[in-house]
Formats: sequence, C-alpha cells, structure tokens
Amino acid sequence: MARNESAGAGRILIFGGNGFMGQNIAALYPGSHPVGVDIADSPAVTRALDEIRPDIVINCAGKTGRPNIDWCEDHKIETLRSNVTGALIVLEECMKRDLYLVHFSSGCIYEGDKGGQGFTEEDPPNYLGSYYSRTKAWVDQIMRDFPVLTLRMRMPFDGSLSDRNLIMKLRKYSRVLTEPNSITHLPDFFRAMTTLIARRATGIYNIVNEGMISPFEIMTRYRERVAPSHTFEPLLLDRLGEVAKAGRSNCRLSAAKLGSVGIQMPPVHAAIDQALDALAAEMCTRAT
Ligand SMILES: NC(=O)c1ccc[n+]([C@@H]2O[C@H](COP(=O)([O-])OP(=O)(O)OC[C@H]3O[C@@H](n4cnc5c(N)ncnc54)[C@H](OP(=O)(O)O)[C@@H]3O)[C@@H](O)[C@H]2O)c1
Repeated sequence: MARNESAGAGRILIFGGNGFMGQNIAALYPGSHPVGVDIADSPAVTRALDEIRPDIVINCAGKTGRPNIDWCEDHKIETLRSNVTGALIVLEECMKRDLYLVHFSSGCIYEGDKGGQGFTEEDPPNYLGSYYSRTKAWVDQIMRDFPVLTLRMRMPFDGSLSDRNLIMKLRKYSRVLTEPNSITHLPDFFRAMTTLIARRATGIYNIVNEGMISPFEIMTRYRERVAPSHTFEPLLLDRLGEVAKAGRSNCRLSAAKLGSVGIQMPPVHAAIDQALDALAAEMCTRAT
C-alpha cells in the first residue's frame, strides 16, 4: 500500500469515511484511507488498523441523525453503539498501539454563555437536553484522560450546497431561532485541525469563530445577500418544542485556548458573509 506523506501528516486512517466530515477530511489529505468499517465491531476495527498501519487515526464516525438529531431520540441503542461503544473501541485499540487519535466531539454539550465569557475546555458539560448531546458529552469527558486530540465544533457552515451546511439547513425552515450561538466556519475549522494534527497536539479544543450569531440573523443576511424573496419568521426558544422533538443546545464557547496556541478564528459575521457570497456564486453556477 502506498504511503501517504501529504503535508508531513503521516499515514492517515479515517473512520466514518463516508460521512460529511469524513469525505471532507479525505479530500484534505490525498492518499489517506477513509473507511466505512463499523467502529463498534472490535475485530473489524483491529483488522483495519493492522492492514492500514496508520500513524494517525481520525474518528469522525457516529450517529448524527437524519434529517437531524431528533432521530437519535428514537434510536438510542444505535446512537449509543456508534457514539459511545464504537468511540471507546477506537480509543482502546489506538492506545494499545500508541497511535495518535483525533476524536470528533461537539460543542452542543453546553447551554448558556457563562456570563458572556463562553465555556472553556475545562468546563464540565452542562447540557443534557438531547440523547445525541448526552452521548457526545460522555465520550468527550472520557477522552480527556488520554493523549487524544478532541475537536469540538458547532453547527458547521460553509458556502457549499451540501444539505449538511447550516445555511442550507436553515433556508428550509419557515421559523428560525433567535438565540445567539457560537458556530464554526468549516474552512477555518479545517485550517485549525490540520495545524493541530501537524503539531500532534493533544487535549480538547473548541473550534468556533469569534463572537456569536443567531440563526435568525444568518437568514436575515441570507435574504440580503443571496435570496431577497426568501421568507421566514422568528422562533423563540420557548416555542422550539413546536418544531423539534429533542432540545437543542444554545451556547457560547471560548476559542481562547486555540488562540493561545497561535490559531486565530476570524469573526463570525465576516465568516458568514464570506460563506453567503460563496453560496450565491454556487447557486448562480448551478442555475446556468
Ligand atoms: N455536522 C455537524 O453538525 C457536527 C457538529 C458537531 C460535531 N459533529 C461530529 O462530527 C462527527 C462527524 O459528523 P458528520 O457531520 O460527518 O456526520 P455524518 O455525515 O452523519 O457522518 C457520520 C458517518 O459515520 C457513520 N457511522 C455511524 N455509525 C457508525 C459506526 N458504528 N461505524 C462506522 N461508521 C458509522 C455514518 O454512517 P450512517 O449514515 O450509515 O450511519 C456516517 O457515514 C460526528 O462525531 C459528529 O457528532 C458534527
């Protein structure tokens, strides 16, 4: 098997290689090995590690729910199996082999803004309102005790037409939440991720853009910059139960730790405008 030495990254195995993040990461590391192996199947994980012999394992396999995390409320065993059992099998097998593991966590394990400061990597998770968030919080905290790089992002967005792009999700809703949140511009996320991996960093990192923005404000800017005829109404948090089965985390995360290692995340409003302009261009191209 040809060795991948792209950007000095080493040989990379990606679990969850067929998913949204997995495909994006495989494209970032040409020559990497994205696989669809069931991470809760311990012998299959062992085989993949022994066959590919990676230096780096990136685990972005997990149940995220389709069309959204409400799915996890009705599929708790499947969610537990992938997000907890599978993640722990990958952890154990990587630690046994002394492999560098990158784990995908989520910022959706917090609620509130911590008095305007944002939650840091040291704060214990405080949001238990959905089964998805609980599974992510449990494993996030387990990873803390091992030399693993844990990446937390929130509501990722970019200028693509992907239905996993936050902006593309929001444009389908007739009512959108007015709660400000920390969110993650994917190009900035990937820049931070590749830098941390190149340094073989370990520990938890919040990877969110500077500042907060509400879904309602994103759609207001979408209407201004992309689709002037788009219509939607505000949805207050106390009415969320009318449109969603599970609760949703609304929170501010601090990216100060990332900044302290020299990785700055651009302001969120500029990042949203950049993504909206890219999206408008994509839509024009598709229409012609
Ligand atoms: N995208 C987001 O909004 C977001 C935000 C914060 C954190 N994250 C985290 O980032 C990671 C990647 O998310 P994503 O957006 O790429 O989700 P995704 O598109 O749903 O991809 C996850 C992939 O993992 C696969 N999978 C599920 N259970 C598996 C198992 N037991 N073994 C192997 N593969 C399994 C899924 O296959 P099936 O579809 O067949 O189940 C899917 O291909 C997840 O850990 C997620 O929690 C995502």
